[in-house]
Amino acid sequence: MANKRILSVSLLSADFSNLTQEIQTIEQSRVSDIWFHIDVMDGHFVPEIQFGANIVRAIRKITNLPLDIHLMVNNPDRQTEIYANAGASWLSVHVETCLHLYRTIQDIKKLHVNAGVVLNPATPFVMIEPVIDAIDMVLAMTVEPGFSNQKFIPSVLPKIRELRRLIDKSNPSVLLAVDGESNLETIEDLVALGVDVFVAGSTVFDKGNHVVNIKALKAKTRD
Ligand code: DX5
Ligand code: ZN
Repeated sequence: MANKRILSVSLLSADFSNLTQEIQTIEQSRVSDIWFHIDVMDGHFVPEIQFGANIVRAIRKITNLPLDIHLMVNNPDRQTEIYANAGASWLSVHVETCLHLYRTIQDIKKLHVNAGVVLNPATPFVMIEPVIDAIDMVLAMTVEPGFSNQKFIPSVLPKIRELRRLIDKSNPSVLLAVDGESNLETIEDLVALGVDVFVAGSTVFDKGNHVVNIKALKAKTRD
């Protein structure tokens, strides 16, 4: 996996008044294994409202990079087809929002989109054990969902270790992802734990040059 570690750049921290330029600068940098992570929020599961399907459609038109959609919404079954049609490459749902998780995953796969399952910091890893054969990615939140630029919750690290073991034992093709304060310090422990996909927002966009920041993060993911 070493050379295939992915940085999923979270557009929540981008300059929305200049989104086209932000996206194109990153794509044109030609850094390998970059996705765009797009946080969909409904004002219920999390307080804010973000990234409707029209914006995803518009983003899909201006980039060829994979769009990694994180559905932070109650009742995600109402949204999966809408966001698949808008151009999602990945659709991830929170286990906390799915009454019928297996069926939701099956529905995402029928839409020809890769299926991810997300765990809040306080949700135990065993919640994904029954569906591990059916999914393409597990995403462990390392902050509470809803906002960028929060503090990393270190007590999630043992769970990430358990997730790595479960994936290796039961379905090694599943990608292990983390979301929340992936920065130049936290990423070292996460690499050591075998994380494959790192979502990063404020570390990329808040200070300095975006491409330099992305290259620095990517350099840390190499063995
Ligand atoms: C948090 C979002 C994240 C957020 C990460 O709810 O799911 O994707 O953009 O931002 P940083 O990297 O600033 O923690
Ligand atoms: Zn996210």
